[in-house]
Amino acid sequence: MSDIKDAIRIVDKGEICLVEWDLPGEKVNKLSSPVMERLRDVVDELAESSYKAAIFVSRKEKIYIAGADIEEIQKLNTKEAYMNAVTQAHEILNTLEDLPMLTVAAINGACLGGGCEFALACDYRLGSDDKSTKIGLPEVQLGIIPGFGGCIRLPKLVGLAASLDIILAGKSVNAKKAKKIGLISEAVPKELLEQRAIDFVTEKIARGGKKPSKTFEAKSMMDGFLNSFMGRSVVFKQARKTVLKQSKGFYPAPIKAIEVVQKTYGSSNRERCVLVEAESFCDVALTDVSGHLVNLFFALEDVKKQTGVKDKNIKAKNVDYMAVLGAGVMGGGIAYQGAAKGVDVRMKDITTDAIAKGLKAARDILGKKLKRRRISKFELANVMNRISGGTDYSGFKHQDVVIEAIVEDMNIKKAVIKETAEHCKADCIIATNTSSLSVNEMAKAHPHPENFVGMHFFNPVDKMPLVEVIRGEHTSDEATATIFALSKKMGKTPVVVKDGPGFLVNRLLLPLLSEALFLLEEGCDIVKVDRFYTHQFGMPMGPFRLMDEVGLDTCIKVLKIFRESLGERIEISKLSEKLSSTDRLGCKNRKGFYLYDERGKQLEVDQSVYAELGLPTPQHKLSSKECVERGMLQMINEASRALYEDRIVETPQEVDVAMIMGTGFPPFRGGLLKYADNLGIEYIIQELEEYSTKLGIRFKPAQSLLQLKSFYK
Ligand SMILES: NC(=O)c1ccc[n+]([C@@H]2O[C@H](COP(=O)([O-])OP(=O)(O)OC[C@H]3O[C@@H](n4cnc5c(N)ncnc54)[C@H](O)[C@@H]3O)[C@@H](O)[C@H]2O)c1
Repeated sequence: MSDIKDAIRIVDKGEICLVEWDLPGEKVNKLSSPVMERLRDVVDELAESSYKAAIFVSRKEKIYIAGADIEEIQKLNTKEAYMNAVTQAHEILNTLEDLPMLTVAAINGACLGGGCEFALACDYRLGSDDKSTKIGLPEVQLGIIPGFGGCIRLPKLVGLAASLDIILAGKSVNAKKAKKIGLISEAVPKELLEQRAIDFVTEKIARGGKKPSKTFEAKSMMDGFLNSFMGRSVVFKQARKTVLKQSKGFYPAPIKAIEVVQKTYGSSNRERCVLVEAESFCDVALTDVSGHLVNLFFALEDVKKQTGVKDKNIKAKNVDYMAVLGAGVMGGGIAYQGAAKGVDVRMKDITTDAIAKGLKAARDILGKKLKRRRISKFELANVMNRISGGTDYSGFKHQDVVIEAIVEDMNIKKAVIKETAEHCKADCIIATNTSSLSVNEMAKAHPHPENFVGMHFFNPVDKMPLVEVIRGEHTSDEATATIFALSKKMGKTPVVVKDGPGFLVNRLLLPLLSEALFLLEEGCDIVKVDRFYTHQFGMPMGPFRLMDEVGLDTCIKVLKIFRESLGERIEISKLSEKLSSTDRLGCKNRKGFYLYDERGKQLEVDQSVYAELGLPTPQHKLSSKECVERGMLQMINEASRALYEDRIVETPQEVDVAMIMGTGFPPFRGGLLKYADNLGIEYIIQELEEYSTKLGIRFKPAQSLLQLKSFYK
């Protein structure tokens, strides 16, 4: 049995000591309650000792301290329990801060959340310049605020602007940036970190071993002003404005964090500051928003552990080489994404012009990153060097995977798949990125249908995290697991789905888009409808804006496919025919429901669209409740069918992850089916029945929904 004492060990080094973090049996160091108790003992032992300095190091490969134990946090569900946990943590870290000796956190690897707050309680921090070193406070991403003193100590150390930047966005910084803002004293190579920390404190001890000042020292006039009494109000006002603009008021944690910093910054009364932070932490930790974000965190952690198949013995192939057929919007994005994650990519298209466009698309994404200093010129060149292209099949013999992203036409796709298979090794997997065609039908063109699978990326590929891995009836476990693993390697969140019209995400999303056309037909205003969805519900885009993004022609084409395959319950507004007869395609020709400038930036609604579709000026007084419900209830109804009748996916959690990652469904609502459970199935059925009587069969509750009590049992 491993001993919790091994989690934090004091190693004597003469007048100084090393304190090693190494939680037994775990990949990471985390601050669970037993570990915190151990830390209390260690700090007490240090207080009793005669050491002049203690250097805290981690013995884990890429982790310093990953943070609090989120599973434990999830189980606390009363204010008393939260208060107890944060108060105890404060006591321990305050004792650490008050130790008479010098304390140094020598950070290599992730130092996040509670880990960062631990480091902030030390006198000094040194960081390794290793890629794995990230220091930050990601709490707001879980709907909470830093609760172990981060809201108090970080602003004191780096000033208001830099600290709010980290706390409000839940950001982490590398050693270089941490040094720049004063979060660490030095950034040194990983191999030298420990020795440098020893030399660092030895020098300090030689100079008297005085503790550093605990007040922020401005490095510029501007910094001085922003941290002055007058300047602070400007900073807080601006921070609140930015947060509200970004979160539309749906996320309480960042606003709470601003309040805490505002109430505690500049105060020397530590006890009062700690109480303010602790109470505010409890307030946000108990919100539904936090509950949903924590659940989402675990759902995503689950995906990381999954392989995409049930059989644990199946091994995914590691993919180092892949080819992409079609260098268009999707092909270019997929090539970039693969190369950015270390896969060598060969693109094939029918003309060299198309290849040039694909390469340019990848170069443009990298160019933007370079401009924002996210990558260096060297990294840009490295990624581009991994992409090559041509109009023939040269190089295909070596490919492990070929991703097909050519025009959405079954006959062309089948012909190309057949031809491609002839140029590849027998075990090469061909994956189609089709968004609406049957994977099973396409597989008929492949001589080894077990090596054929769907790999549905979302547009824009570099930004949208979801990949639907579509398992056809003949797809093998190996092919499914390999594409699942490749999706993860490419930095994406895969969800395995069964073949069927629109797979999962588009099948659920389409009723929402289609309903918007009915609303328009009834005389509703495009801007109002879109704003109800974005500003009242929290979707990243309203349905009209989204139709422009997808392409109006594509939306209408897919609607027709759905009606053919899913039957009469897919009602289509008369406006769809009228729209088809116009030249409005959406963003791709900068003419849709909205106007767009030459660079594709969205401008205002194109008012001429109403007259062109034979509609009067919009006058319908629609409530936001009805507007949103008419779309959302249909999505829930369809999700019930997809889940329980057609078994497109197996769990409500998969639906929620897919909708959040594929459509930006508001994470603070926990996903479509968590939202449905919050509304209550009884209420949903009753509303659907009313709408069905009033508006049409598309609202008729599904059999599976009628039998349900809740999605999450
Ligand atoms: N655009 C989207 O939002 C989106 C999202 C998800 C999936 N998809 C799917 O991805 C696929 C590609 O869509 P896109 O938007 O990138 O289309 P696109 O028109 O931008 O690109 C298609 C590319 O395929 C090339 N091509 C055509 N025939 C070819 C052949 N025989 N061999 C090699 N290349 C050939 C074309 O020259 C073109 O460069 C489609 O199946 C589409 O349904 C598109």
